[in-house]
Amino acid sequence: MRKADIGVVGLGVMGHNLALNFERNGYWVALYNRTAEKTRKVLADAGPERRLIGTFSLEELCANLERPRRILLMVQAGQAVDDMITSLRPFLQSGDVLIDGGNSYFQDTERRHEALKDTGILYVGMGISGGEEGALWGPSLMPGGSVEAWKILAPMLQKIAAKAEDGEPCVDYIGPRGAGHYVKMVHNGIEYADMQLIAETYDLLRHALGLSAPQLAEIFAEWNQGELQSYLIQITAEVLRKIDEETAQPLVDVILDEAQQKGTGKWTSQNALDIGAAVPTISAAVDMRILSALKQERLQASRVLSGPIRTFQGDSTHLIHLARQALYASKIIAYAQGMGLLRQASQEYEYGLKLDRLAAIWRAGCIIRARLLSNITLAYEHEPDLVNLLLAPAFREALASRHHALREVIKIGIELGVPMMGMSTALAYYDAYRSARLPANLIQAQRDYFGAHTYRRLDREGIFHTQWT
Ligand code: 6PG
Repeated sequence: MRKADIGVVGLGVMGHNLALNFERNGYWVALYNRTAEKTRKVLADAGPERRLIGTFSLEELCANLERPRRILLMVQAGQAVDDMITSLRPFLQSGDVLIDGGNSYFQDTERRHEALKDTGILYVGMGISGGEEGALWGPSLMPGGSVEAWKILAPMLQKIAAKAEDGEPCVDYIGPRGAGHYVKMVHNGIEYADMQLIAETYDLLRHALGLSAPQLAEIFAEWNQGELQSYLIQITAEVLRKIDEETAQPLVDVILDEAQQKGTGKWTSQNALDIGAAVPTISAAVDMRILSALKQERLQASRVLSGPIRTFQGDSTHLIHLARQALYASKIIAYAQGMGLLRQASQEYEYGLKLDRLAAIWRAGCIIRARLLSNITLAYEHEPDLVNLLLAPAFREALASRHHALREVIKIGIELGVPMMGMSTALAYYDAYRSARLPANLIQAQRDYFGAHTYRRLDREGIFHTQWT
């Protein structure tokens, strides 16, 4: 009987679509789901003559796989992954490859990698981005962990991955242990920031110019033809254009303004704080999701807390032009923060990350795919040790010609009372990073005053303490 090239465990929408992607690319895929009903449905929907083998126990799954076995776990991140590893263990042998393709917390992946190290089972924590469509037609894949496993998996993963404009598959070995999931986590942090910046731009234009959703859709669609070209801008235009069949209103206008989150953005901010990397725009995006969820409180506060009562008096075409510049500038700064975090984490966790490769595999397939990522790839290819993306000549220039617009747009937001937390933090990061002198001298003096924490001086070597009173 024909054995399968890979097994997929967990046939939710991502697992299901990834299985079909492998199958379409010529591989035999063994399927397993906790509820047999789901497996039967996937087989029935796929129809006959497909390279799919339904299995109804983990033992049967493992018996139906070519050696070394390759198993992709697409189960809920967290305890379910541990449970599945425990259940699979008796049927696995040394040399078999186990891949966790969920949004697992990277420290969990580190722990699982460590636990399996001496068993001979090759463990891979793989970030997968691109949503349902990406899973089916070509995701961006971020496998980390066992290098031997990567050698075994590479041809298959290169086949199913998205292809960048130059034809290169959007997958590469990311680094040891939890590196793949770490990078996916930061991808999501950047995703949060990017979405927040787009949302603020939409909010400002809506407030200032009173534009309808379909009118705003046209603006975003036009922006998508230029330097802002990206999946998130493209879908923003499509979302804004969509009319609700029931109410005949733009659908976006009837959607409750409470953003939910599954945790990857929050983890990015938490980890950035842990390792001492500044990612204020990512954190602002998380904070804004948290504030958005306080709908009832906000409704009450909106009745009692005052703000400016102003209308925008300027030229609308000019504001749209400024908003485009501001969005691009703040987006560059947000990506710089994310890349800076990756650089620092690479040292902290000894991941050996190659930032040019990470940017390259995000050029297609993933949620943050954008024209900008080709420029980021080039910047790191040209200068692998670049300390901050903002210093790359192309980005330095892009910001030199746009930071005025970013300032203007934030000013207008402030005048109208539109919250611009993402853009404001982006600009503040930019201004802080380019400051030869920050007021941290005062903070040091205060620390020394109340706690004798000591300080260093600009004009002399050594550690100093002053009796301040
Ligand atoms: C991707 C996405 C995906 C994530 C969603 C939802 O790269 O395909 O990042 O993995 O689950 O973006 O995340 P939130 O629910 O936290 O918004």
